[in-house]
Amino acid sequence: KIIPVIMAGGKGTRLWPLSRSNAPKQFIQVVDEKTLFQETLERVADASVYEAPVVITNQDFRFTVAEQAREVGVDLSAIILEPVARNTAAAIAAAAFHLKAKFGDDAILHLLASDHEIDPRKDWNEAIALARQTAASGKIVTFGIKPTEPATGYGYIEQGEPLSTGAHQVKRFVEKPQLAVAEEMLAAGGFFWNSGIFMCRTDLLLSELEAFAPAVHDAAGVAVAKAAVDLDFVRLDEESFQASPDISIDYAVMEKTSNAAVVTSAFAWSDLGSWDAVWKLGEKDDNGNVVIGHATVMNTENSLVLSRASHLAVQGLKDVAVVASEDAVYVGRLDEAQEVGKLVKYLAKSK
Ligand code: GDD
Ligand code: MG
Repeated sequence: KIIPVIMAGGKGTRLWPLSRSNAPKQFIQVVDEKTLFQETLERVADASVYEAPVVITNQDFRFTVAEQAREVGVDLSAIILEPVARNTAAAIAAAAFHLKAKFGDDAILHLLASDHEIDPRKDWNEAIALARQTAASGKIVTFGIKPTEPATGYGYIEQGEPLSTGAHQVKRFVEKPQLAVAEEMLAAGGFFWNSGIFMCRTDLLLSELEAFAPAVHDAAGVAVAKAAVDLDFVRLDEESFQASPDISIDYAVMEKTSNAAVVTSAFAWSDLGSWDAVWKLGEKDDNGNVVIGHATVMNTENSLVLSRASHLAVQGLKDVAVVASEDAVYVGRLDEAQEVGKLVKYLAKSK
């Protein structure tokens, strides 16, 4: 069976004021009733395909994770807790060491970001079946998404030669390119966005980490060996984990490995990273508005209006995002949505 490893320790500040430092993007409801983390759990719930999932997150979120898993009736096999954030390479290395001890070298790990919206289930299952076969044959499998714009917040995968399984070799992986480079890749064709979801054998994952990010590999290995286990919680040893460099798996391994493959079966995917992405994905009224929660619009066009608190009424605006949480309100142009992270930093400074 495949072992799901869910990465749930990120911050996601661009969805302020719904996402907060104590409630980052993966743990909030954005469009649907369930949180993005809960939707991720449900994606890997089929017990005929998957083992019980492992979640790796910051220790501050341990109760949020346990509580949200319980709400959707999912039993976790472990919650691995990071004493400090060291980015996804260290998180993945720690999970791989933990699972190697439990399931051995040839276990197939399915690494999933916990902050995406994916639809529908059907293409997903086909993509998983192909990925599993390809991962078993000795590849780190990525899931490629057809790009629609030269976004700079994603990794880009250049598709190479076909493999015997039907997946393709990865020719080149470029993490978060400059705009001009992204534009070139889009114009050239043959590139896919990296969805941030991977599948790989435990031994290959660890040997690639050892080859390309030895300091991450070693720090995570010791942190797992010295971890304190209490109930479902695996607390990584702080002193050892802290020694890991802060680097994402994309820069640490994916840009460097020659053993990557890409599955391009197109399930509908959105990173939901910013308010314009939420607007794009949402269901529109006749005037192109996405209205969510306690909200009403009049004489308003192509806008996102979302309230999780008191009733929000918007009149006479165009191309804006208006988002109200329990204790804060954001109003901005949708074409500035990528910059909300800067606003959040500015707010923190001026407090
Ligand atoms: N446990 C843990 N610890 N999880 C983390 C950490 C950490 O230190 N940092 C991030 N994560 C989790 C996030 O919660 C998210 O689910 C996932 O790992 C990806 O991290 P992001 O910080 O959201 O990465 P990104 O969006 O900038 O880039 C990645 O995803 C893109 C697609 O959304 C890359 O893989 C890109 O190549 C990719 O295109
Ligand atoms: Mg992300």
